[in-house]
Amino acid sequence: MTRELPFTEGEREALRALRRDLHAHPELSWQETRTQQTLERFLRQHGITDIEPIARTGLVARIPGRDASVPPVALRGDIDALPITEATGLPFTSENPGVMHACGHDVHASWAAGAALLLARDPAHAEVRVIFQPAEEVGEGARAVLESDALEGVRAIFGAHVDRRFAVGEVVAQAGPLAASTDTFTITLHGAGAHGARPQESADPVVGAAELILALQTIVSRRLDPALPGVVTVGTVHAGKASNVIPESAELTGTIRATTPETRTLLAGEMERIAHAVAATHRLRATVVLSEGTPPVVNETRAALLAAQAARTVLGADAVVPLGTTNMGGEDFAFYLERMPGCFLRVGAREPGGEATAAHSPRFHPDEECLFIGAAVLAQCARMAGETLAT
Ligand code: NI
Repeated sequence: MTRELPFTEGEREALRALRRDLHAHPELSWQETRTQQTLERFLRQHGITDIEPIARTGLVARIPGRDASVPPVALRGDIDALPITEATGLPFTSENPGVMHACGHDVHASWAAGAALLLARDPAHAEVRVIFQPAEEVGEGARAVLESDALEGVRAIFGAHVDRRFAVGEVVAQAGPLAASTDTFTITLHGAGAHGARPQESADPVVGAAELILALQTIVSRRLDPALPGVVTVGTVHAGKASNVIPESAELTGTIRATTPETRTLLAGEMERIAHAVAATHRLRATVVLSEGTPPVVNETRAALLAAQAARTVLGADAVVPLGTTNMGGEDFAFYLERMPGCFLRVGAREPGGEATAAHSPRFHPDEECLFIGAAVLAQCARMAGETLAT
């Protein structure tokens, strides 16, 4: 299936134990203190000593390179869990009720530690900053890392996500959009309340909201290039308290997903324009609040070519497979890619004959072999990026 990976049996055992420990003790975003301590202890046990807490519950491990004149590169593994009750039945199942590593960040933290171990043993040209990032699930951790000095001077960054749509041994490393932006909106329609029997005395926000929900669907169907993916979803609708009363206001909330900065701007702009226009049609006034989430993940071309080459070097010529359909979920790695070149990879996590269970399912479990694959591929990305920067 795969080439021999560069781990001793002892290292494999240690990484497996680390991952199972993290899996059994999942912690929610911004609460990853035990995780932080466990990772730091593991790194120190393996001779990595330049470790600093960052972003409250995260860590950066600095692995010196062979050539101090080469600018640093970074690897990132996220470390937080989700408010989900685990139903995998694994022997190392979550011991924290209602909290679960249902997105595989236990594996991501462990493969970042594994990459650190490989790079400490056999250094790259460049210094490598291994980032253990908290709070990815709430879209806040990457921003906190960027506010620290952990990425100062870094010229390329690589990270990855386990993915059961792909078999163990398959890796996606391609240029362009990989995941979507995750902006949310709140639209309030302000009208005039009245008795339900006398609509002529009202400016009815319920009828306005009904029309607005449908009108918002024309953004994707009529304004967005059909060749580009996008989503406008209204997720909540609230208005009124009594069946015979026309309320004063109605509120809609929803999410907008786009895979390029340009379509992100288009969808948000049209949402706002249509909200005001439909409100005016019904003698209502709209207030629109857009909350920016994570940007789309857009892999830089040269970094993606390098990552694909790294995956082939580690796993063989057939390892790199196409993404297929763009994931319309979000990933806060996007904040790094706004600031520096890099590539976010998908690492196949489905065992032979297994199902393509989606992340965030209570039954999600990545096959453990992908831990070693992710570590080796990310370490190789750092090596090859260092070589490129050295020449
Ligand atoms: Ni995730």
